Amino acid sequence: MCGIVGAVARRDIVPVLLTGLQRLEYRGYDSAGIAGLTPDGDLFRMRVAGKVAALADSVAAQPVTAHIGIAHTRWATHGKPTEHNAHPHQSGQDLVLVHNGIIENHESLHEMLSAKGYRFETETDTEVVAHLLHEALRTETSLLAAVQQVMPQLQGSYALVVLNAKEPTRLVGVCQGNPLVVGLGNDGNFLASDSLALLPFTQTFVFLKPGDIVDMGIESYAIYDNHGHLQQRAPRFIDMTHDSVNKGNYRHYMQKEIFEQVAAIQATLEGRIGSHHILPAVLGAEAETLLPKVDKVQIVACGTSYHAGLVAKYWLESIAKVSCAVEVASEYRYRDKVIEPNTLLVAISQSGETADTLSAFRQAKAECLGTLAICNVPESALVREADLVFMTRAGVEIGVASTKAFTTQLCALFLFTLALAHAKQRAVPAALIEELGQLPGLIEQTLNLDTAIAAIANRFVGLEHTLFLGRGLELPIAYEGSLKLKEISYIHAEAYPAGELKHGPLALVDRDMMIVVLAPYDELLEKLKSNIQEVKARGGQILVFADAKANIQNEPGVTVLTMPNIHAILAPIIYAIPLQLLAYHVAVLKGTDVDQPRNLAKSVTVE
Ligand code: M6R
Repeated sequence: MCGIVGAVARRDIVPVLLTGLQRLEYRGYDSAGIAGLTPDGDLFRMRVAGKVAALADSVAAQPVTAHIGIAHTRWATHGKPTEHNAHPHQSGQDLVLVHNGIIENHESLHEMLSAKGYRFETETDTEVVAHLLHEALRTETSLLAAVQQVMPQLQGSYALVVLNAKEPTRLVGVCQGNPLVVGLGNDGNFLASDSLALLPFTQTFVFLKPGDIVDMGIESYAIYDNHGHLQQRAPRFIDMTHDSVNKGNYRHYMQKEIFEQVAAIQATLEGRIGSHHILPAVLGAEAETLLPKVDKVQIVACGTSYHAGLVAKYWLESIAKVSCAVEVASEYRYRDKVIEPNTLLVAISQSGETADTLSAFRQAKAECLGTLAICNVPESALVREADLVFMTRAGVEIGVASTKAFTTQLCALFLFTLALAHAKQRAVPAALIEELGQLPGLIEQTLNLDTAIAAIANRFVGLEHTLFLGRGLELPIAYEGSLKLKEISYIHAEAYPAGELKHGPLALVDRDMMIVVLAPYDELLEKLKSNIQEVKARGGQILVFADAKANIQNEPGVTVLTMPNIHAILAPIIYAIPLQLLAYHVAVLKGTDVDQPRNLAKSVTVE
């Protein structure tokens, strides 16, 4: 999604802005722009459709220096990804701004401003804000006052950074639902939509809250709430350097993140597994009183995080014996629903900033017994707003296709299941807790399949369609595997419960159809083997991931890749990994943009 960087400093901030934008590229975008004031106080603005590298080329072609400026990567929502729709947007001679999020009432504001004589140059929702501020500056004496006047007129969730050439040493930022952080440097201050953008320049950050307005100069900053009251927000030191986020010896971030799963899962489990049970306290101090009262769990999430929720439903109902519903957040937020008494609302999100998940969470929260966030970003809105929090400790995930965030979410959800089972006095087999400690080793063994999977990826490159099949706990993993493949290789992939095959999708099966099957040794294995036969009889090409105990043999039309033996309950955590590798190798062979697939963004902060 869109990215914002702003800087006011004693040094030349043009390299700061460009570096910041490069560091935000992983979030996904389609155009970029920069604006600032030259040392003589002249406003400049450069924008391009395409990559930050093209913007850097434009800057190199017309060199410019500045001590104050703003920059943006845009992920198009209103209007095509063209140069004229790219940010910063301008009104009059002096005012430029960058914006993340959506101004929902932009149409009525557009009408009102047009009636006042403003001419619109873009198709964006953002331009209304530039003109509103320009209009407000006719009467207000400062940019801060103009922003305070305009904010109540804007509906939606957004972040803004504004520069007024008449106030050449200050930037004003607004955090209204979309993230914005202040970075405190030695020779100036910075603003960004993601602290990662600023790590080469500072490790000290102030995380703004919804409704905050920051008035920032070279040496100082002041934060106000939306009633104009001064706020105190303690700066936080982030123990990460810009080197913590690089590809190392890997070709892509996604590849690195797949291989980081051993360490990520180790970190997620560390200090959280007891010898006989998992104590509710791992979810926070309030969990001990809250969890025993829970009669129902409602999970909301999107994409990969939703798939993690689907696995958790099986675990919660079979181990903790607590009823669980899982719903895609963009559906849940908009439908009439009945929230049963004593429902614990669980939101799962890597970023903690996904607009649909946050909105579903905020909407249902008041009617629930309590809330739990399973999240990977400690400073996120979701973490701030939940009663109980379980951090996944996956480390920064840069690849748009979620990998280590998913498997650590599964571990977190499994620990949550065990903690709830303990709180509800359900017996949990000790063997399960022991096996949990074996997971990092089992993941390492699974990663050894990399070469074999890279070889088999060749068979997928020319395909237009594939099917993924699973039963029980493996069904959500089939969904996840098909999402990974379509998202980065652009091959159409569908996942089905294997038992549903004969109710429709079997019609698709012929010699050209490749079918991926997940077949760990479990109580549904014999049924699954019958489904494999159904496909084989119709000439389909089958790739099976199965353990030795499942005893499925290679034969014409059936290729088996052998997975480590694992307790069936925990199998989803390791069976996700070969599907990540498969998607990765197919995408590499197809030459797609693995880390930033077309049209997608890392965290989806707009609806
Ligand atoms: O940050 P979140 O976990 O809330 O993100 C949810 C989805 O947007 C995300 O999982 C998406 O589906 C990934 N690109 C999948 O790889």
